Amino acid sequence: MATTASTPYVTYQYSASTQRDETPRPANATWRLIQITDSHLFATADERLLDLNTRLSFAAVLALALGHAEPAAALVMTGDLVHDESAAGYAYLAQSLGTVGCPSFCIPGNHDRRGLMETWLGEAAIESVAERRLGNWNLIFLDSTQPGEDGGRLTPRQVAQVDTLLRRNPGPTLVFLHQHPIPVGSDWIDTIDVANGAELLAVCDRHPQVKAIVCGHIHQEFASVRGHYQILGTPSTCFQFMPGSPVFALDARTPGYRELRLHANGRLDTWVVRLAEYPEPLVYSSVGY
Ligand SMILES: [Fe+2]
Repeated sequence: MATTASTPYVTYQYSASTQRDETPRPANATWRLIQITDSHLFATADERLLDLNTRLSFAAVLALALGHAEPAAALVMTGDLVHDESAAGYAYLAQSLGTVGCPSFCIPGNHDRRGLMETWLGEAAIESVAERRLGNWNLIFLDSTQPGEDGGRLTPRQVAQVDTLLRRNPGPTLVFLHQHPIPVGSDWIDTIDVANGAELLAVCDRHPQVKAIVCGHIHQEFASVRGHYQILGTPSTCFQFMPGSPVFALDARTPGYRELRLHANGRLDTWVVRLAEYPEPLVYSSVGY
């Protein structure tokens, strides 16, 4: 494990994570973490999905997040990074992440290719199970995707590893994955959630330091409280799904991202920030994507 005085995060792999960050810090220290999700980028600048230019929309949301007076301490991207799973799409994303001025952590969604993520995103491409540190907080990342499937599933090994990580380190913790671990009340997308999400919840139930499970995939804001932690979903940087709709339907709400304020005393403050308007008009007649 390596750390410096100038950066608030340290990084280490699952297999080596027995050390703790004992750096003294004021009790009122806070780290600003931003979550950006479901960018659905393409190889070229003018390709569109549901008649929306996803690069344009992603760039607008990223600029909104980075335009904040307080610099971000880290950026998390929770999957569906590149819709056409093209090398050029990941190259564009890598170029964008190179400008953010903070560490980036990227996990795959059902529209991603792990090999290309690793090639183009380097250290920002997170392993199947991994833990990173932000101040005295632990960020656990899970690859919930299954090859060729839109829905997710965690392996028994992943679930066991999360339990091990949580037993090793009692610091306040966030868990990130792409698909949602509980139903969000929309029948069509609840058929492609994490099939065994209950197993992850059962682990988190046993560890009081878990503050939230944070997902992408649902293209809408979502928040639920389960015991000592929240389950949070976040708008896509492109089109939004209609909350509560039994079938695929788009929502007129604008793209956005999630702010997460991690306090040294373990408190989590979080909210969604949206663009004031779409970068260009949205077509509502789409029946799927
Ligand atoms: Fe998506």
